[in-house]
Amino acid sequence: MAKYAIIGGSGITRMDGLEIIRREVLHTPFGEPSAPLTHGTFHGLELLFLPRHGAAHTLPPHRVNYRANLWALRQVGVEMIVAIAAVGSLNPRISPGSISIPDQIIDYTYSRAQTFFEENLQHVTHIDFTYPYCEALRQALLRAAAESGIEATGTATYGATQGPRLETKAEIDRMGRDGCDLVGMTGMPEAALARELDLCYACCAVVANWAAGRGDGLISMEEIEGHLKDGMHKVYKILSKLFISV
Ligand code: HPA
Repeated sequence: MAKYAIIGGSGITRMDGLEIIRREVLHTPFGEPSAPLTHGTFHGLELLFLPRHGAAHTLPPHRVNYRANLWALRQVGVEMIVAIAAVGSLNPRISPGSISIPDQIIDYTYSRAQTFFEENLQHVTHIDFTYPYCEALRQALLRAAAESGIEATGTATYGATQGPRLETKAEIDRMGRDGCDLVGMTGMPEAALARELDLCYACCAVVANWAAGRGDGLISMEEIEGHLKDGMHKVYKILSKLFISV
């Protein structure tokens, strides 16, 4: 039984190096996940892969059924999730093409189904979310990066925005004042839902661009795609190291 899952973000609808065993279509009480779950082996370790934006990358961040995705993964016995996510950087020390393993989140999203705890409750439930990511998995990712000779920032606040548009300069300036280092559109409610299900969840963020107003000129898709490609090579190296060591 695969205990590990990778949720793939922009730039990975399939996972290089994953030897596919089978695909499984799952239904959940919260609807359909983004795609069938792919069961496979990666460097000998059995794991599951789920492309967050769908097999053909057609689901924008605000239309992803985060509840169905997390529920489906737990339903098949997953305990640990590495979530790959493209982000912009507000922090001059975290440049495009680099990797960051964030340790904090600020949620700016709205109108997303953000909890499992709302219907048929026996009592109101509040999860602890002081430290939103699984520290053991974060440390394992940081160790795997260091052992692969890849620099990865381990202290970074991820600001989750609604999208699908990118932010204005003023929005990014406000997020900077709030203390955000990174900006992305999919970090929430994914992390909170994982915590509600008691799953060990960490994010491996690939920096695709300088956030709005932090680089030279406007943000182009070519820039994002170029840096994502470089960053994804690093992600594969980190994951190979991580899964060899577990
Ligand atoms: N903003 C929000 N999400 C993103 C960005 C960004 O600049 N880059 C990649 N995902």
